[in-house]
Amino acid sequence: MNVIPRHVCDIGKFDRDPEKSYTLPAHYYTDPSIYEREKQAIFYKSWAYACHRSQVAEPGSYATCMVANQNIVVMRGQDGVLRAFYNVCSHRAHELVKGCGRTNVVTCPYHAWTYHLDGRLRSAIGQKKVEGFEAREFGLKPVMLEELNGFIFVNLDAGATPLAQQTGNLAADMQGYCDSLAGLKFAHRKTYELKANWKNVADNFLECYHCSVAHPAFVDLVDIKNYRTRTYGIHSSHISPPGRADNTAYKVPEGQEGQFAAWWVWPNVTFNIFPGPANLTILHIMPTGPETVLEHFDFFFLEDKPSDCEWQAIKYVDEVLQPEDIGLVESVQRGLHSRGYSQGRLMVDKDRSYNAEHGLHHFHQLVLERLGDLR
Ligand code: FES
Ligand SMILES: [Fe+2]
Repeated sequence: MNVIPRHVCDIGKFDRDPEKSYTLPAHYYTDPSIYEREKQAIFYKSWAYACHRSQVAEPGSYATCMVANQNIVVMRGQDGVLRAFYNVCSHRAHELVKGCGRTNVVTCPYHAWTYHLDGRLRSAIGQKKVEGFEAREFGLKPVMLEELNGFIFVNLDAGATPLAQQTGNLAADMQGYCDSLAGLKFAHRKTYELKANWKNVADNFLECYHCSVAHPAFVDLVDIKNYRTRTYGIHSSHISPPGRADNTAYKVPEGQEGQFAAWWVWPNVTFNIFPGPANLTILHIMPTGPETVLEHFDFFFLEDKPSDCEWQAIKYVDEVLQPEDIGLVESVQRGLHSRGYSQGRLMVDKDRSYNAEHGLHHFHQLVLERLGDLR
């Protein structure tokens, strides 16, 4: 059995009580051995966002996603059934498909083994001449799959508790903020590479303490003083009444102001409904190493071609909001290496005001529980 050195799982002054607690210690954001433990205890055991129903709507359509370093493909079979597999060839481990697309049969680019969309091996060149070769031994390895409001999640742990059971009222809560949720389609993706630990990026999403300081346009778009964060089992909600239609972020058509409503779902995805016509955006924070992240910002609208007003919202996210947040988290990542910093204090008041950091505490506690470091 591997013995974890004491200093690596030292949680310092983290406390189960958010009002008394300090943050995760700095080394949780920098130590490669923590990231290795997170892969095993968190990413290989939790429901991970993969793609949206509209991206794999037709028989034969597929989309790939990364769960930490594991490449997964979601495919819709000719029978209309959606399945997920490790995106790896059973012969000598070449990746099978890239990105997303549509096909009748999956062909490995290396030696052209082919697979049916349900994962069965279809053919391997020369197989009849190989003694004892059993095609059924070499099907693709399946992973669990579940849909939540049309968003598809996968889980590498065959014994995982269903996502719907773990998320309680989340699906209904989201529907309450977007009448047309079921009709939304994938419309656009922005991609970002960050020099930051994935938890540092999630932390930044989970509080609006920094909003008034760092996001002047965003605090116009929402009613910042009434922004509220609520925590549940494995998710939290971040909701605010509408702000000003004449805000400096983007123009919200009259009568369509709407609220800002967002949800973070353990461990690394957020769903956001911005003020304006029916919309939803996903911020997917995928670790690519202990201190690097690939972010997908996916935009969903009623049509797969964004309108002028929707382009304004995309432009605001891409040119204003994201650069503001990326600058913050990359600076924090450098600061986490400073010999002058080890652990900060979570700012949580009794009223859980708009700027309280209890959303971070909820997340940090889940991290420590899953790692087995909270005694
Ligand atoms: S690795 Fe796929 S066919 Fe050889
Ligand atoms: Fe932010």
